[in-house]
Amino acid sequence: MNKTIVILGTQWGDEGKGKIVDFLTKNADFVVRYQGGNNAGHTLIVNGKKIILHQIPSGVIHDDVISIIGNGTVISPVALIKEIHMLEKNNIFPKDKVYISPFASLILNYHIAMDIAREKKLNSAAIGTTGKGIGPAYEDKVSRMGIKVYDLNNLNLLKIKIKRALNYYNYQLVNFYKQKPVDYKTTFNELAESADLMLSMVKDVPEILYQAIRNKNSVIFEGAQGTLLDIDHGTYPYVTSSNSTVGGVCTGTGVGPKSLDYILGVSKVYMTRVGLGPFLTEVFDETDNYFFLKGNESGSTTGRRRRTGWLDIVLLKKAIKINSLTALCLTKLDVLDELKEIKICIDYKISNINSSIKNNNTLLFLPNTLENVIPVYETLPGWNSSTAGLTNFDSLPLLAKKYINRIQELVKIPIDIISTGPSRNETIVLRNPFKI
Ligand code: GDP
Ligand code: IMO
Ligand code: MG
Repeated sequence: MNKTIVILGTQWGDEGKGKIVDFLTKNADFVVRYQGGNNAGHTLIVNGKKIILHQIPSGVIHDDVISIIGNGTVISPVALIKEIHMLEKNNIFPKDKVYISPFASLILNYHIAMDIAREKKLNSAAIGTTGKGIGPAYEDKVSRMGIKVYDLNNLNLLKIKIKRALNYYNYQLVNFYKQKPVDYKTTFNELAESADLMLSMVKDVPEILYQAIRNKNSVIFEGAQGTLLDIDHGTYPYVTSSNSTVGGVCTGTGVGPKSLDYILGVSKVYMTRVGLGPFLTEVFDETDNYFFLKGNESGSTTGRRRRTGWLDIVLLKKAIKINSLTALCLTKLDVLDELKEIKICIDYKISNINSSIKNNNTLLFLPNTLENVIPVYETLPGWNSSTAGLTNFDSLPLLAKKYINRIQELVKIPIDIISTGPSRNETIVLRNPFKI
């Protein structure tokens, strides 16, 4: 059945969105990215081969599927060309089946220089960004001095825009950050080299999606990052610079909210975070090393070791509400296989609440810094046997079923998909979103 489905992260990214998008794409005609840039790293394992996608949607491996990069994204032309070449080396030819919105914003080398310089200067107050220039590129978009894909159409005007931007950035880089200025020629040449290719991929995205949905095609919207990294709803300021939550789908592609049939939130059965910021259920003992090794928890974009911790149901419930989630997909169940005990944070206790968030004794809002918040855990027994690669719920060990049922009871929305390994087929489907 044709459907319009959103697949997004409920945590701090890296929930396994890419694998699930790739898995569900067999039912889709279009896969669309609506926000973020090459800060994302979505890992697909196809026929034993690992492919990490940064800007190109995770449906690209499938023939006859159109991948779209929407207006809400920021695109690094240099990284995009690299990604296309990587795919071509793997016998995937994306040029004719990837469309780009003319209104997507470009990430240029001065954004990257600024991101890195700022993080360095912030020192212990740094965000721990991916260093890909995401923040400055989005700032330019909002301040209306950004360069958009359609600007590649007019190289003379582009020269003026780049010079104007470089005046602004180089003044700060040299005088405030004490860094080297960015060279105009390098910036312009990088863009000029990619202009023809990018322009050949430009399409009227809102119109294509409108017609697609009207003609009963199936569309998947693929989130990057996760709910807790959302610029508005995340653990600010330790967030990314876009709306990774469901609202970003509409603003970032040009479809209206009534077109969205089903919204799937992807959640690991534990949690990870790269970069800095609060992480209430973080573990520091041998469990961290266990998650790191068994879950292979190194960042797909920067290679940084991910911080790890227990599943936080309070935050998961927040993600369910903010995104109007239809259902959940739980990933990495197999990573819990060897644990004797598994903890879930089911509630928070608040101590010494700052008066600004307290009205009498009621909490006015959940503090995004999570300061003075103490997690309340429920401990469940581990199953101590392998779930790796299982494709049928009934074949799961009894205690694994109990664990999943307990999560379902707490979150009160269906768990439709469970992932038991990194490969496409290592998946349990309880309800196929395209078939309900
Ligand atoms: P994304 O950014 O949400 O697409 O996630 P990443 O690709 O950055 O990180 C998820 C990692 O977990 C990747 O290495 C995947 O190959 C891997 N992965 C996804 N699902 C599973 C699973 O169910 N079990 C295991 N063991 N690994 C998984
Ligand atoms: P996917 O799509 C995990 C994190 C960075 C940093 C913060 C801000 O693979 O889930 P930025 O470079 O965006 O300004 O960094 O956001 N971050 C991610 N963490 N997965 C991602 O993407 C991320 N994209 C950004 O580590 O903490
Ligand atoms: Mg990732």
